[in-house]
Amino acid sequence: MAGKGVLVTGGTSGIGLATARRFLAEGARVFVCADDAAAVDATVASLGVGGGYCDVSRSEEVGSMVAAADAWLGGIDVLVNNAGVAQRSPFLDITAASFDRVVAVNLRGAFLVAQAVARGMVERGRGGVILNMSSTNGLGGEEDYAHYNATKAGVLLLTRTMAVELGTHRIRVNALCPGYIRTPLNAAIAAGSGDDFVGAYIRDRIPLARAGSAEDVAGAYAFLASDDAAFVTGTELVIDGGQLAVM
Ligand SMILES: NC(=O)c1ccc[n+]([C@@H]2O[C@H](COP(=O)([O-])OP(=O)(O)OC[C@H]3O[C@@H](n4cnc5c(N)ncnc54)[C@H](O)[C@@H]3O)[C@@H](O)[C@H]2O)c1
Repeated sequence: MAGKGVLVTGGTSGIGLATARRFLAEGARVFVCADDAAAVDATVASLGVGGGYCDVSRSEEVGSMVAAADAWLGGIDVLVNNAGVAQRSPFLDITAASFDRVVAVNLRGAFLVAQAVARGMVERGRGGVILNMSSTNGLGGEEDYAHYNATKAGVLLLTRTMAVELGTHRIRVNALCPGYIRTPLNAAIAAGSGDDFVGAYIRDRIPLARAGSAEDVAGAYAFLASDDAAFVTGTELVIDGGQLAVM
């Protein structure tokens, strides 16, 4: 990855932060964005990356953030389209406002960033890699996450269609489907459910008998961005410790 320009959305926390660190270690130049200005400043200061505030659901903010990243990186070679939110609610209780917010960030946001970056890649003509964050929740219907699950399934078909249309521009597009990864996103959910619940969940449903780490997912991003995945496009990589293999 030496010398490559990498944009990581949601690069200030959890999986995105670990991924920014991983790409830096691989010799890439990295630009992070998030909807939390203080977290962006802290990440820029601690890692020496470029960064900017952006709510990915807002098209004007996406346009200026992608332009800033493009200028700072000297062209975006790899997009880690990672920003996302989860809200937990039984299907019967999901409000329209909650549904709209989860769709706006996870699906509309992923689309807006991917389109802005892909346009630049096509214009520059040197190809590229786009990695969209889905989830095992895009492949199976975990209870209490109907809106989240629907966005992550949407990301999978967005990914395949982008791969079909962008292949001739030498742009590879793939999705990642992590399972249960220990990050701030689900720490609150785990705290609300109690240690017994999380311990039993891991024991019963994950063959490798542990939660995933942000570094586990960063490694998958790094593989799919690398030339080792040069013939891999239009598909998804599951990083779940075997969870989907359990009947
Ligand atoms: N943690 C898991 O178990 C897990 C499993 C599968 C998929 N995922 C996905 O991985 C991605 C990262 O999750 P995480 O667990 O690291 O979460 P996290 O909460 O630790 O980090 C999320 C990041 O996204 C940013 N973000 C949130 N909303 C944004 C917005 N509107 N605009 C710009 N940035 C925004 C946050 O500021 C933060 O930097 C998400 O898309 C999530 O759905 C997580």
